[in-house]
Amino acid sequence: MQVRVRAPTKVTLFGEHSVVYGYPAIVFSLPIYIDVSATEHDDILIVTGPANVSSVDLVIKEDRIDVGPKTKKYLMRYISYILKAIERFSVPGIMIEIKSPLPVGAGLGTSAAVAVGTVAAISILKGLNVDKMEIAKLAWEVEKLVQGRASPMDTAASALGGVLWIEKKEEWNIEPLSVDEINLVIGVFEKQKTTASLVAEVAEKLKRNRLYSEVIKLMGEIAREARRALEDRDWKRLGELMKLNHAMLEALGVVTEETSRAVHYAIEAGALGAKVSGAGGGGAVVALAEDPIPVASAMKVSGAKKVFTVSEPSNGVEIL
Ligand code: MEV
Repeated sequence: MQVRVRAPTKVTLFGEHSVVYGYPAIVFSLPIYIDVSATEHDDILIVTGPANVSSVDLVIKEDRIDVGPKTKKYLMRYISYILKAIERFSVPGIMIEIKSPLPVGAGLGTSAAVAVGTVAAISILKGLNVDKMEIAKLAWEVEKLVQGRASPMDTAASALGGVLWIEKKEEWNIEPLSVDEINLVIGVFEKQKTTASLVAEVAEKLKRNRLYSEVIKLMGEIAREARRALEDRDWKRLGELMKLNHAMLEALGVVTEETSRAVHYAIEAGALGAKVSGAGGGGAVVALAEDPIPVASAMKVSGAKKVFTVSEPSNGVEIL
């Protein structure tokens, strides 16, 4: 028996980094998917790539993991964390294949989508009745192990889909926002640092100087105002708030020269607003554009490896 699922990636519209500290964020689930298949197999689990262009090749037996030469160390760690999170599903006996149209770590929630897709495929294959919220929670456990500190944002966007409001009150509150269409142009740039190291750098800055805590707090206020702009469909105000959010990310020191230039070029080309999306250190840039064509060209000119335009969010993880 084989189960195939697809798990969407995401773009953060507002509040990356500040969400790690419980402040609100708005995330858009992208209709760009990681495909995961799980097949019943003899008594071993084989995980094959390409999660990051054939960079996973390992065989997991009950008592040890044999790592092939193509496997990058951090991905191996990642897969072993997935296995840990889903231990109770008694994993051995499954072959997993992961296919990604984007490199893992591109800044678009690819790693969260790998975790969501793998957890979903294995639980369905094992005949377990796990709903999307539980898949999101299990995949979030993986993110926490990998990053050291992680919000549930990326895994919720991949599992549940739509446009989501994420905020920590007593508990984490994950609320769908009703947004039918929004014109986004997304550029993918060289990522120079891992999310884990960027999250750690920001944590260190917050400890060192209380002014960084003010920046984080302000990002939360920007997200609150953005929610109202989004609900009013006030694109001009939303664009202005994206620029403000980007300025906060610059202040946190997570924006590279290339992505900073891409934001400026996108605005010069007519975008209402643009910002880095995700942890930074390169990665993704998202722009809000009434006319996506000149903005997409501006992203290419500024060095994007991939550019795409989207307007409707995905519906979350799905069986194929
Ligand atoms: C990564 O996509 C977004 C961060 O806010 C980390 C997190 O939310 O766990 C930087």
